[in-house]
Amino acid sequence: MTDLYPVPEAFAAQANVTWADYERDYAESIRDPEAFWGRVAQRLDWMKPPTRIRDVSFDRQNFQIRWFADGELNVSVNCLDRHLATRGDKTALIFEPDSPDEPPQRISYRELHARVCRLGNALRNLGVGKGDRVTIYLPMIVEAAVAMLACARIGAIHTVVFGGFSSNSIADRVRDSGAKLIITADEGLRGGKKVPLKANVDGALKLAGTTSVETVLVVRHTGGAVDMQMPRDRWYDAVVDGQPDSCEPERMNAEDPLFILYTSGSTGKPKGVLHTTGGYLLFASYTHWAVFDIKEDDVYWCTADVGWVTGHSYIVYGPLANGSTSLMFEGVPSHPDASRFWQVVDRHQVTIFYTAPTAIRALMREGEEPVKRTSRTSLRLLGSVGEPINPEAWRWYHDVVGDGRCPIVDTWWQTENGGILISPLPGAWATKPGSATLPFFGVQPAIVDAAGNLLEGECEGNLVIMDSWPGQMRTVYGDDQRFFDTYFAAYPGMYFTGDGARRDADGYYWITGRVDDVINVSGHRIGTAEVESALVLHPKVAEAAVVGFPHDLKGQGIYAYVTLVAGEVESDELLKELVAHVRKEIGPIASPDFLQWAPALPKTRSGKIMRRILRKIAENAPDQLGDTSTLADPSVVDALLGNRRGA
Ligand code: PRX
Repeated sequence: MTDLYPVPEAFAAQANVTWADYERDYAESIRDPEAFWGRVAQRLDWMKPPTRIRDVSFDRQNFQIRWFADGELNVSVNCLDRHLATRGDKTALIFEPDSPDEPPQRISYRELHARVCRLGNALRNLGVGKGDRVTIYLPMIVEAAVAMLACARIGAIHTVVFGGFSSNSIADRVRDSGAKLIITADEGLRGGKKVPLKANVDGALKLAGTTSVETVLVVRHTGGAVDMQMPRDRWYDAVVDGQPDSCEPERMNAEDPLFILYTSGSTGKPKGVLHTTGGYLLFASYTHWAVFDIKEDDVYWCTADVGWVTGHSYIVYGPLANGSTSLMFEGVPSHPDASRFWQVVDRHQVTIFYTAPTAIRALMREGEEPVKRTSRTSLRLLGSVGEPINPEAWRWYHDVVGDGRCPIVDTWWQTENGGILISPLPGAWATKPGSATLPFFGVQPAIVDAAGNLLEGECEGNLVIMDSWPGQMRTVYGDDQRFFDTYFAAYPGMYFTGDGARRDADGYYWITGRVDDVINVSGHRIGTAEVESALVLHPKVAEAAVVGFPHDLKGQGIYAYVTLVAGEVESDELLKELVAHVRKEIGPIASPDFLQWAPALPKTRSGKIMRRILRKIAENAPDQLGDTSTLADPSVVDALLGNRRGA
């Protein structure tokens, strides 16, 4: 029997969405999505309200995904201007620096509006306009939000690159998006360590050769020394200072692109997930309001980085569209010690806290003391995102962090989704540790078997979504065919998530993890193919195969099997060199946790690598290898088992 955590009565009494609301509105959202979303669309300020609500077909012939197609609006106006009359002095962003000894900053809606306008004007002066791409490679500082909103104001398409990616990864993204301008900082600061952001951009531009990039704007953050290459490189301050505090917002069609965000898939290089203006903002704002039960005086903190979709939707766009106070934290949970998150909660009287299971597991390992020495009485709601949360971590989060008072929303969604698709609505129904529970309004999840048959009732299989929702990605940037093939070809007429799921007798969904060749490391998506390509770029590597394995802290770890070029010798130095090589090619988040020498890889007679076997060896489950008789050379497996590292 699973334990059931009912909605606390006090919470239900004040909730934005009750069970009765959900039952009624969910039914309508499926029966008559036009009426439902037409009504919800009124939560945004439109320059021209939409009369068309949805034009959607997942079929190959008439494939299209368009929402509010004749509507016009500007995202930055919705996140800033419309709040000025009533919330001008309200804090829009709280900035909590890496070091607790540095003073935090509070930026009002009025001040944020002015800063966005100044940068918008500066970007226009630099020749950036509607439809141009701007790469943002910044630490978790206020300028990151300012840069995103300034792009939105002038209709430029931003593409934020996570600060943990290497020069190579930046170069790929700059090339693919054809960015005209890059906004970066001298250095980032995380846990007291400096991250050489500007130097990484320099490296990327050198690697990329001739690019579309005309200007690099550099925010002076740490004051560290950087090379400025004139006239390409400009100090952010110098171009922004003196700009007017107002900036005419661009009139955008609802289907004009808002941003591109690169994410890993099963094959090839990361794809540019394209989100558009109207549907994305509406979905981010509406899910933020309903899932986090947002009230006017909440202090809301999402610990994600703006380099990921969670930061886009639930640090910047959702909260600001709702006029909320959103906290941006530059640092890490363990610096200066394992109490930092909770000290920040107390310092700013945070009411809603949203983080990843990997952080919870890491803090859980440090015991209760670092939590218990703080008060946390301001907290009223906790959230989780990025990977399945194990029930043990869920209970610790609930009992220790939330003192048993706060509901937990385990929110399942993906970069492709724009916002939360399956999650508790905290005032509406009981939760179960480890389950994302029920679908959001307008979302129709289903479970299919490998052949694509819809499964009924209690079942387990592949998770699909039967129809569109406004926040759905619209295409892979520059590659419509890849978009269709990746998500709509496997099961005709349905969106395939790449995740496995189980549905229990109450209709609750339990996400079981990726069923494709994507590894979820600490909530970060890494394609096995990406790590393999990085490894074989090394001159001493002949072949590589990468799989995920269960990891106590990270959820999944990266396990690499490497076959060396004939004549090369296996050594610990080479092993270190290869790990460093992957960090350089992709970034530290893709470092293999284990690297095992493989004199040969297990292949079928037709030459296909049998990953199932490699996964079982990595999991240290040699008794579950299954049928190995189809291998070209079954003795390869014994050699690998004998050679297994770690365990
Ligand atoms: O496998 C699922 C897992 O993270 C994947 C999406 O990763 P990304 O696009 O980077 O977005 C992460 C943040 C939205 C999914 O395919 N995932 C995300 N949230 C959960 C989850 N798995 C289980 N439970 C969740 N709450």
